[in-house]
Amino acid sequence: ETKPRLPVLWLHGLECTCCSESFIRSGNPLSSDVILKMISLDYDDTLMTAAGHDAEAILDEIPNKYPGEYILAVEGNPPLNEDGMYCIIGGKPFVERLKSVAANAKAVIAWGACASWGCVQAAKPNPTQAVPIDKVITDKPIIKVPGCPPIAEVMTGVISYILTFDRLPELDSRGRPAMFYGQRIHDKCYRRPHFDAGEFVQSWDDEGARKGYCLYKMGCKGPTTYNACSTVRWNGGVSFPIQSGHGCIGCSEDNFWDNGPFYSR
Ligand code: SF4
Ligand code: SF4
Ligand code: F3S
Repeated sequence: ETKPRLPVLWLHGLECTCCSESFIRSGNPLSSDVILKMISLDYDDTLMTAAGHDAEAILDEIPNKYPGEYILAVEGNPPLNEDGMYCIIGGKPFVERLKSVAANAKAVIAWGACASWGCVQAAKPNPTQAVPIDKVITDKPIIKVPGCPPIAEVMTGVISYILTFDRLPELDSRGRPAMFYGQRIHDKCYRRPHFDAGEFVQSWDDEGARKGYCLYKMGCKGPTTYNACSTVRWNGGVSFPIQSGHGCIGCSEDNFWDNGPFYSR
């Protein structure tokens, strides 16, 4: 209770902001508890009320005051073409802001597919040359929390882990927290017994669809997708895409946006 709260600076590059939309819906822990009691969210241009030069000054102040102690959380990514002109924030290319705030950070969290892999703005032919953040931040530990968006409780779970154990979570070979990305959707999918029994949905609204058969033949990417959707689920554990009748499109995997089609194998 006497320990100062961990400073966090949350930047937004090229993105859709639905990683934030997911984050603010965390039920356990509540995102309000994370923001108001667990961390010191000193900058987040989406959630904070401050604006203008005083707000922007925080991005100089915190790295100078807490070198090596704060976490940089990044939603979205930098476009590199035309010297970064496709994402200007506060009058400067986002890539400059990203590099400068990362310089003194203890570690960096890459929220979602945008920051982790590039996502739809990096889809072929990628005219803005959008790149994942590890292409420009190369000297800091980066925790990739992919998904489009990531599950809310996975996002707050990563922060809770860092605060509870005072260390970064164990990462897999792709830089993702092993505790949330160590298994495929397919490994824990409740439709798996139908897969094993050879019972597949063959077309939308057929008898198999009504009986909840496996969606593999409808393009489900669960067998090649590492994420916690079939265990943690969404909306406080209520459901996930496959439970609502749609196959997984592999939204936490690198290049999922160009790896379609989504509806066939
Ligand atoms: Fe939006 Fe997906 Fe990017 Fe998150 S990863 S900001 S949900 S496009
Ligand atoms: Fe695997 Fe998808 Fe079938 Fe579930 S619905 S068992 S994830 S192929
Ligand atoms: Fe994404 Fe597949 Fe989960 S589409 S939300 S990883 S079930």
